[in-house]
Amino acid sequence: MHQGAGEDINRGSLERLLAKVMSDRGLDLGQFRARYVERRVNVRLNALGLTTYRQYAAYLDAHPEEYARLLDTLTINVTQFFRDPDVYQLFRDEVLPAVVSAKQQRKQRLLRIWSAGCATGQEPYSLAMSALDAIERLDAGTMLPTVIGTDIDPVALATAKAGEYPAKEIAHIPEPDRTRYVEVDGDRMRMRQSVKDIVWFQYLNLFENPPIHGVDVVFCRNVFIYFNRSDQERLLNAFWESLTRGGYLVLGRSERLTPQVSERFVLVDSRQRIYQKPRGLQYR
Ligand SMILES: C[S@@+](CC[C@H](N)C(=O)[O-])C[C@H]1O[C@@H](n2cnc3c(N)ncnc32)[C@H](O)[C@@H]1O
Repeated sequence: MHQGAGEDINRGSLERLLAKVMSDRGLDLGQFRARYVERRVNVRLNALGLTTYRQYAAYLDAHPEEYARLLDTLTINVTQFFRDPDVYQLFRDEVLPAVVSAKQQRKQRLLRIWSAGCATGQEPYSLAMSALDAIERLDAGTMLPTVIGTDIDPVALATAKAGEYPAKEIAHIPEPDRTRYVEVDGDRMRMRQSVKDIVWFQYLNLFENPPIHGVDVVFCRNVFIYFNRSDQERLLNAFWESLTRGGYLVLGRSERLTPQVSERFVLVDSRQRIYQKPRGLQYR
């Protein structure tokens, strides 16, 4: 990368840039190795013909859509089955049993999971496989799980609806789930009908369309980069409204609640960004 006359690209200014991304978008890029972030940010500087992190910070202010490009460059937009396996393990082993038990106590059978910003569908299908497996293991066969995947990208949604992917993606699916929920045909893999039967896809702009209501779990992971902090807060409050009592919200590894919203949720797991709407509310 070429350096601007007299202007120094040093770690201090990169740190200031990362602090800005954190304060504007609530995104903690500290999860990546510093050298990696530096290389990737430099790709954006070069593409824009900029020479310093300070110029790039000003560019972000003038062109907020650049945040999404930055994240693309950091490959955060790449979705995959069981992305961050630890989250799915907690989801399957702790969140789902708690939700099922609460539903059984209330004599309810419908279990609804919303994948908000589902991209090409790997997230909702991973949720569906986890739910089918957990319900079987809990011997809770009367439960009727549904996963609703929503996105604003119609091309991504078409792929999601087809439920068919390159066979190599099966590598991200835990071994026991592969045989039960996926069939491989040459260099393609597709979700079995038992999984497709419980997953629905729908176009939904999180800011323009009404949210899905009465859901027990919201997964909204790696979507917040598109929004500024006040829009994130609006959205987090909307998710709170969407959730049933005791319902769970799961964010991406580098995302967090705003301080105001964090008072409305109970923290379940700080590392995996799992939060719960309090059970003991008088309403809903
Ligand atoms: C990086 S992908 C995340 C996919 C998946 N949640 C994951 O974590 O792997 C972000 C998705 O958010 C969607 N998105 C961005 N803005 C949105 C909006 N206003 N309403 C709904 N979806 C949106 C994008 O189209 C994209 O598919």
